[in-house]
Amino acid sequence: MLAVNELIRRKRDGQAISGPEMEELIGAYANGEVPDYQMAAWLMAVYFQGLSRGETVAMTRAMLNSGATVDMADVPGIKVDKHSSGGVGDKTSLVLLPLVAAAGVPVVKMAGRGLGHTGGTIDKLESVPGLRTELTPQEVVTVAERVGLCIAAQSKQLVPADGRLYALRDVTATVESVPLIAASIMSKKIAAGADRILLDVKTGKGAFAQDMDTARQLAELMVSIGAELGRTTAALVTGMDQPLGLAVGNALEMHEAVMTLRGAGPADVRELCLALGALMLAMGGQETDLAKGRAKLKELLSSGQALTVLRKMVAAQGGDTGFIEAPERLLSAPVRLPLVAAETGYVSEVHARIVGDCAVRLGAGRMQKGTKVDHRVGILLHKKVGAPVMRGELLAEVHAAQPDRGQEALPLLKDAFVITAQPPQPAALVRGFVTPDGFSRQLPKEFKV
Ligand code: URA
Repeated sequence: MLAVNELIRRKRDGQAISGPEMEELIGAYANGEVPDYQMAAWLMAVYFQGLSRGETVAMTRAMLNSGATVDMADVPGIKVDKHSSGGVGDKTSLVLLPLVAAAGVPVVKMAGRGLGHTGGTIDKLESVPGLRTELTPQEVVTVAERVGLCIAAQSKQLVPADGRLYALRDVTATVESVPLIAASIMSKKIAAGADRILLDVKTGKGAFAQDMDTARQLAELMVSIGAELGRTTAALVTGMDQPLGLAVGNALEMHEAVMTLRGAGPADVRELCLALGALMLAMGGQETDLAKGRAKLKELLSSGQALTVLRKMVAAQGGDTGFIEAPERLLSAPVRLPLVAAETGYVSEVHARIVGDCAVRLGAGRMQKGTKVDHRVGILLHKKVGAPVMRGELLAEVHAAQPDRGQEALPLLKDAFVITAQPPQPAALVRGFVTPDGFSRQLPKEFKV
């Protein structure tokens, strides 16, 4: 009989949990044999005491063993998966994955729904009417073989322990723990079956890892877990102080992703996709020279080939491609309210966490588990950090389902903006790169896996 109270006490006192004990604890929780109140206490003990690297690997293994894994052997080529640790306005996957697939790297992504104040790729994709993301493993392989790209929802059979643990962490203030995030992300990535894994670890006010040291620690831990479990893994550490791009909210972000694939998206979204994309081309064995990889990706963006891949994937997954041909159809919230600047100066902050919370309140995310999101609602920024602004000028637009919900969001959104007399110091988007060989502040010229 598993003495869970003993494991809670040991972790509370900073003592180690052995591999077999971890396997038993996580397995029993996934099967419903350990009650939420005991698991919540154990998670809080981990939050304060941490887990050693060995314990984190054991937890990742135990979570992986709680369910099935995907066999991607039938999809030819080196499969590279990409995962973000979670941000606001992060529609990168919707641009990056068609782009990389257009370059010939097969991509199968098991993506998630929104978590807390952060959005999720599946909710964004589902703003295209008809598009199915709950696919059988066979459907995933068929779409990937036909199109070179498939983005599917994480199946309930994959890492069920993470499904239960994440929901519990979300409501017990235990999300922001480096080992718990690392085990959660890496167990899912390994179960999803890609050969190589590229992580985008976010840092800043809208990220779970708010400072650079924590983000670096998280990136290094995940890269080392990948190595230990047989998957070459690399991580880019990127800024998440302000939202990525201008759009926050599902259909708004899908619209921005399509516009980026048409060559008209915001500079930061495009830049991040090119940086991650060049790394994915290197990891997929296509081009180890990152500058040449970027040039190839730029060409695929401007020729419209990456957009064609997205259109084909939408069609193969049952979506209405009319929304890709005419993306303005995605902008359908009935109420639009302006937020204007109260003073003249420079935008020195657009607090990503506040903007994310605001979008969730409007209905773009979930305040309770299982709630349906409203794909139409969200925030459209008109000014980002560094922009000069005049008093009365438009800072952002709230897209709401009803006037009162929009009015409620406005004061909250106002608090996200800080306007100063002097322009702020520009902050780099890419802040670090982690491989099994170590950490560097900048990307290398070549990346050989
Ligand atoms: N993303 C995940 O999948 N898990 C976490 O714990 C945090 C972000």
